[in-house]
Amino acid sequence: MKIGIFDSGIGGLSVLHEAYHQLPGQEYIFYADTEHVPYGLKTKEQILGYAIEITEFLIKQGVDAIVIACNTATSVAVKELRKRYSLPILGMEPAVKPAVEGTDKKRIMVIATPVTIREDKLKNLLHRVDEDHRVDLLPMPRLVEFAEREEFESAQVRDYINSQFSEYDKDDYSALVLGCTHFNYFKPLYKEYFGDDTLLIDGNLGTIRHLADVTGITLSDDPDRVVYFDEHHNILYDTKTKYYFSGNEVNDEKTLEHLKRLHNRLEQVRKID
Ligand code: DGL
Repeated sequence: MKIGIFDSGIGGLSVLHEAYHQLPGQEYIFYADTEHVPYGLKTKEQILGYAIEITEFLIKQGVDAIVIACNTATSVAVKELRKRYSLPILGMEPAVKPAVEGTDKKRIMVIATPVTIREDKLKNLLHRVDEDHRVDLLPMPRLVEFAEREEFESAQVRDYINSQFSEYDKDDYSALVLGCTHFNYFKPLYKEYFGDDTLLIDGNLGTIRHLADVTGITLSDDPDRVVYFDEHHNILYDTKTKYYFSGNEVNDEKTLEHLKRLHNRLEQVRKID
């Protein structure tokens, strides 16, 4: 099966990475819209335009299903894309439901882009699942920039995270929901701030399980096998991937090395929750 996965940038790699673990042996097309990142600071019209262009590109490549590995693009575009195209299109939204169901009493913090926080999609979700009003929303747009620069542990990113959280009491929170796929790279820093008892919840596994359901692909019976790459940047387990940055196929050694480093980072942080 051929699966298209797209995001504004490298956040979506965390979804692809989970797909490598859960659904090996497939053919993936990963599209990062690096010319237009960050989406979280764009208008709705702009984001919808990008999402349509990418979807048409992926359909031309013959994909059987598309995953919008971006909470921001999902909140603006998923309805319209489903109206226009008949193949399965899966979106992502902050995993508030598992956070509410999996914890009691203490508060839940959702971090996401300003667009995701502003849009009705998240408001409607909170209306449905946050009956006790336990959820706080916090935009963290600069984490997208830091991730794109591959800056995951610098003093600057640590300062930014700590200052954004500083007006909240860390002991009040039982869970932090990562409502932007770029935010997965920083898991060790959230743990440093909140401590071990605060759960980190992202939507990647849920999204990939949903993809398995929709496409009928069987989930791996050994999903925690280490994901690594050979010297030609091919991932093991016969999985094939083509990477595109805004419509251009990535073939050069330097960028492939960059992607490999990002996958290695994701492999390191994957089990931190
Ligand atoms: N990775 C995206 C998300 O999940 C958006 C990042 C951005 O471009 O602002 O929301």
